[in-house]
Amino acid sequence: MNDPLRFDLILAGGLVVDGTGKSGFLADVGIIDDCIARIGDLSQHSAARRIDCRHKVVAPGFVDTHTHDDTALMLWPELPQKTSQGVTSVVIGNCGISIAPSSLPGAPPAPLDLIGDAEKYRFATMGEYLDHLDAHPAAVNVVALTGHMSLRASVMHTLNRPADVGETKAMQRMLSRSLEDGSIGFSTGLAYAPSSSARLAEVVALAHLAGEADGIHCTHMRDEGDYIVPAIREACEIGRRANIPTLISHHKLLGKANHGRSLETLAIIEEAREVQALAIDAYPYVASSTVLKLDRVRQSTSVLITWSTPIPEASGRDLAEIARNLGCEIEEAVERLSPAGAIYFVLDEADVSRILAWPETMIGSDGIPQDSFPHPRLWGTFARVLGQYVRETGLLTLEAAVRKMTALPAEVFGLVGRGKIEPGAYADIVVFDSATILDQATFLTPTLPARGIELVLVNGRDVFAGQSTTGARPGRVLRRAALNPPMSMQRHKLRKHVAQTRTRSTL
Ligand code: ZN
Ligand code: CU
Repeated sequence: MNDPLRFDLILAGGLVVDGTGKSGFLADVGIIDDCIARIGDLSQHSAARRIDCRHKVVAPGFVDTHTHDDTALMLWPELPQKTSQGVTSVVIGNCGISIAPSSLPGAPPAPLDLIGDAEKYRFATMGEYLDHLDAHPAAVNVVALTGHMSLRASVMHTLNRPADVGETKAMQRMLSRSLEDGSIGFSTGLAYAPSSSARLAEVVALAHLAGEADGIHCTHMRDEGDYIVPAIREACEIGRRANIPTLISHHKLLGKANHGRSLETLAIIEEAREVQALAIDAYPYVASSTVLKLDRVRQSTSVLITWSTPIPEASGRDLAEIARNLGCEIEEAVERLSPAGAIYFVLDEADVSRILAWPETMIGSDGIPQDSFPHPRLWGTFARVLGQYVRETGLLTLEAAVRKMTALPAEVFGLVGRGKIEPGAYADIVVFDSATILDQATFLTPTLPARGIELVLVNGRDVFAGQSTTGARPGRVLRRAALNPPMSMQRHKLRKHVAQTRTRSTL
């Protein structure tokens, strides 16, 4: 031992699954301050604290690529829903819905109301919101997207039509400012009225700005059922025309008629990836969840109500049973319950598994923390992938699953120094027991924390230990300027491809 180091913490003897996908190996991990300082045999070094991690996995903290935690970060900054599953960074502002920037004239229209009321939409700029998070940090790191719907509702008086030239310019100004303030990109929710009335040109005009700023476009596509193929083609076209990496959010196939079509959609996505930067994420459940809408009810085998403003006691109950009790048809029950939220049993396990198994699929929970009776994905997603799909069914190797939650999203979002266990990386780390890890949250008991997570560190500090949050809030806002361009690898690949195509055509 020629250079004895003194570590703040040594995680001793665990199976290090480093995030890159390579096989796990037994090693000690030495941490100094917020940084992973050394990996190897550290038995001869001293440490202020040494934790025995034998028979446990030591992995990079998980990146939840798809969240609606914008308000939850302020309401419950320890974020037990996420830290209890090993999540150390969250991407917020998805599906076109971001709490900032906003200058809403009144109450937020649906679906902006999924994450808060007018009082919560109080940040005129992304900078004000991110500064607020700096001053009142959460337990986890935050990466913020700017939502199309938030821009629209701020500048348009009527929403169910395409934006005109002046409105598009006003949205562009808001988005530019937001990107300067540190937002990592732009998100759309084209499936949701009234954003569904936005035309391609409007989206391209905005996505283009995010592309110039080395941002990313994350999209809840216009359709995930019968018209999913044109929707994927549109997402790809936005990416090419705006020259921006694209992330297809929560990829899934809705409705019996479309079950099995992930074979087709993944082939299209793979082909598109030859010429453009394209990523996807997914959650490991056969049910989806969003606002209560009749078209989705019709696609589903059964529906659970998660919240209802006029009939709050409906939460957690089956829609068909509610209709029977009300003595009315389903259609009328939907009307009487609205505004409301619901869980829809509408997906096929074979598609869910095939999409999860696809090597480039990342994991995003899409949980909605404000729901009084949330979809279990909020508390269960990451532990479910590791328990159900690694240990129980063997769909994924441990290393492949961890990569989907760590190094892959860090690369896609350009999170420098995160997503890997390597010297010099930030000490965002989860220690878990791969023999027992499992989601406990179910559709009927949706807020139970996962089991098997032993310790979670964010920037070198314990945020979850001994089966509970610690009260520490060392999370940081990861602003765009401080990050790498997202999907730098794929961008490089794209340039190479373009160069090759050019050479070929000149031959
Ligand atoms: Zn969505
Ligand atoms: Cu979402």
